[in-house]
Amino acid sequence: MDISPEVTGVKRFAKRFSEVIYTDPFARYLGYDISTDTQHPKDNPMRLLALALLLVPVFAFADEPKPKKPKYETKENHDPDGIGKFYVGREIAQVMGHRAAGWLERPEREKEEAPTKLLKALDVKEGQIIADVGAGSGYHAFRMSPLVGEKGKILAVDIQQEMLDLMKAKAKKAKLTNVETILGTETDPKLPVGEVDLIILVDVYHEFSHPYEMAEKMVAALKPGGRIAFVEFRLEDETVPIKLVHKMTERQVILEMAEFTDVEHDKTIKTLPWQHIILFKKKAPKKD
Ligand SMILES: C[S@@+](CC[C@H](N)C(=O)[O-])C[C@H]1O[C@@H](n2cnc3c(N)ncnc32)[C@H](O)[C@@H]1O
Repeated sequence: MDISPEVTGVKRFAKRFSEVIYTDPFARYLGYDISTDTQHPKDNPMRLLALALLLVPVFAFADEPKPKKPKYETKENHDPDGIGKFYVGREIAQVMGHRAAGWLERPEREKEEAPTKLLKALDVKEGQIIADVGAGSGYHAFRMSPLVGEKGKILAVDIQQEMLDLMKAKAKKAKLTNVETILGTETDPKLPVGEVDLIILVDVYHEFSHPYEMAEKMVAALKPGGRIAFVEFRLEDETVPIKLVHKMTERQVILEMAEFTDVEHDKTIKTLPWQHIILFKKKAPKKD
């Protein structure tokens, strides 16, 4: 049997290893009597083979992937408005129930959140496909509907059927045909892959119970050049009168999205009274 150490890198390593351990106590373990053994392992193919075999588990362990850290943590001690589940160090907020839908439609919202300014900043264009994820009562979806026109479409996603029912009734009353409601799940907004121009998340992302899974699916739904807008109450500003777990810093959103390399932070618009608009853009696919 030719196991000449010159043949492969492993054998070369084995040869070196055998030379190093020859006078080591480990050599005794392998059956060498170093006081009497005058034969070097390189001259004994069977001993050399035994040494090489000993190295196999060393190489195997070196290649084994490290176990992944879980994405989420739970803590007993937490904010009463949160769910006790943490993602990238921040606590996820409780979902706003459909019984509070009236609050989303409050007349003072224009003064407090300036949704008209938000719409202008989003630069919605005729013919676009826009997803309003966590659409609630459809406050923003119905304002965007005339802007995309008949050639465009608004995909209004929510996980509460009651919210979809409210939106369907509104669309029927206003005879709007370009607002399509979608019942999503906590991990999947059920959007078409690679077809969406803009995804808006207004006061929503902080209450996703599975933000990682949702972000992964939303990124996949965007066209190249498509945008995703996180409209979150500013945690940096203590004068914004919203409960802590329902606010997010710009830094935190950017940190959480850093994992998704198909999108990059484009800009943050800070012209609204309470929220920031943190925009990400999908990169063009890489050419081989
Ligand atoms: C505070 S409301 C905001 C509604 C709307 N964006 C607005 O600004 O008027 C949050 C909405 O997000 C929805 N939601 C929470 N988790 C969701 C998820 N994983 N997918 C879709 N909608 C979700 C809730 O059901 C609720 O209707």
